[in-house]
Amino acid sequence: MSEPALVPIPMEDLVSLCKRRGFIFPASEIYGGINGFWDYGPLGIELKNNIRDAWWNDMVRCPPIGPDGEPLSIVGLDSSIIQNPRVWEASGHVAGFNDPMVDCRESRARYRYDHLYVLQHKTKSELPLFAFLEGDPDYVAKKLKKQGRGAKLEEFDTLALADVDDSLRPRVIGPDAKEPGTLTEPRQFNLMFKTYVGAIQDEDSAAFLRPETAQGIFLNYKNVLDTSRVKIPFGIAQIGKAFRNEVTPRNYIFRSREFEQMEMEWFCAPEDARKWYEFWCNARKEWWKSIGLTEGNLKMRSHDQDELAHYAKEGAGTFDIEYRFPFTAPGYGELEGVAHRGNFDLTQHQTHSKTKLEYFEPETKARFVPHVIEPAAGLSRGVLAILSEAFTPDSDRPSGVYMKFHPRIAPIKAAIFPLVKKDGMPETAQKLYMDLRKKFPTQFDVKQTIGKRYARMDEAGTPFCFAIDDVTMKDQTVTVRHRDTPRVDVPERISLDKVARYVTDHIS
Ligand code: GAP
Repeated sequence: MSEPALVPIPMEDLVSLCKRRGFIFPASEIYGGINGFWDYGPLGIELKNNIRDAWWNDMVRCPPIGPDGEPLSIVGLDSSIIQNPRVWEASGHVAGFNDPMVDCRESRARYRYDHLYVLQHKTKSELPLFAFLEGDPDYVAKKLKKQGRGAKLEEFDTLALADVDDSLRPRVIGPDAKEPGTLTEPRQFNLMFKTYVGAIQDEDSAAFLRPETAQGIFLNYKNVLDTSRVKIPFGIAQIGKAFRNEVTPRNYIFRSREFEQMEMEWFCAPEDARKWYEFWCNARKEWWKSIGLTEGNLKMRSHDQDELAHYAKEGAGTFDIEYRFPFTAPGYGELEGVAHRGNFDLTQHQTHSKTKLEYFEPETKARFVPHVIEPAAGLSRGVLAILSEAFTPDSDRPSGVYMKFHPRIAPIKAAIFPLVKKDGMPETAQKLYMDLRKKFPTQFDVKQTIGKRYARMDEAGTPFCFAIDDVTMKDQTVTVRHRDTPRVDVPERISLDKVARYVTDHIS
């Protein structure tokens, strides 16, 4: 795939296409929606499943080749969303999975403290300090303009709300407020969703929806070790829903309250952990490239000491694989974290559950608690990165845009179009369709002009369309229309009986 254009695509155009074509809808839309929740439509679920299946195949069924030239050993798992609540005490989530938040007494809105910034005028100290959510400086410019102050952004310094001097706090106007001084002091807010198990709702029956899939893996580490023939180093992988009561869900599906993760815990000897950490950082970045993200849009970033999660402090750090999302451009946002968790989690569960979670090395007779390297990817964020990457404006096409998905993850692989609804063309097309639909997602469409049918497939990102025309009726060949290079003077023709093979070869 070619390198991306420098100008980021407008986010509203992507959101509108996703709604129009049935990729993503707001959850509970007919009731006015619910903040931080999204539904995947017919094309969206195919796309999401394809990314999920690619990850599962490339991590579990056919994992990468290790540094010694041998295939790695990774097994799968599907653990419960609700676990014994003591799990989250041991994991550190009850005490440490907090975000600082501030409330606005005027608008009743709630914000992540560390996402709030203010613009402070460089010279006019009488001006109030307008707070805005990270990544939204236009908001402040508009607000000042409305008040006839004609603000120019370059006249202001931007600083984090946390860095605003205490004496100036009463002059800060919240993002949705009119009056200054309505933002409260920050308070810690636990991100886990709480529920109750059984008929009685009290503190003894309280439980949590999992905030990460990872803990289910640590809980089953011993079960897997005792029942499968894995030996260290090995991995356990899981894909599934995670829930976080985010203070400020935003940027479409980037930060939502219900989302999916694709996580793998790699158990290894302590002395090998550093080597595996580097291996997985590189392997995971390459994987995202293999399904269509371009090098120029990806960046590796090491966490600073003060932003490390509680578990990663025990290990040697965390690398984020970041993607240049339309709303972060020219900056980047986290797509996947690769964390060196040390032996933090297994040791914690060993202590809290009083169950030995050591590994016994038969050759050396050594006993140790394995160290863990964790590539933790967001499936929902992966969908957003892939959608952003694929969105390709093209004013020469009737659709004005096409979705340049890697054929492996395109929701629909092929479309079959009879040129006209007569002369035996629909029947021949139908026969081809009945064959292809057994092999991969295929669409058959006889309605409207062929141009409109191509336009619809361009927006769905279908890599190949096959047209049945009058020549087909004579020589049993069809035209191939390639989504990315549709305007060729002499269209490619292949024989009807080669179509299935052609698509299979191109999507693998
Ligand atoms: N087990 C480690 C862990 O959960 P994380 O960095 O908190 O680490 C891993 O989450 C990935 O899950 C992130 O890189 C991101 O892609 C995704 N993720 C986290 N919070 C999310 C949210 N609120 N909405 C969508 N995706 C999220």
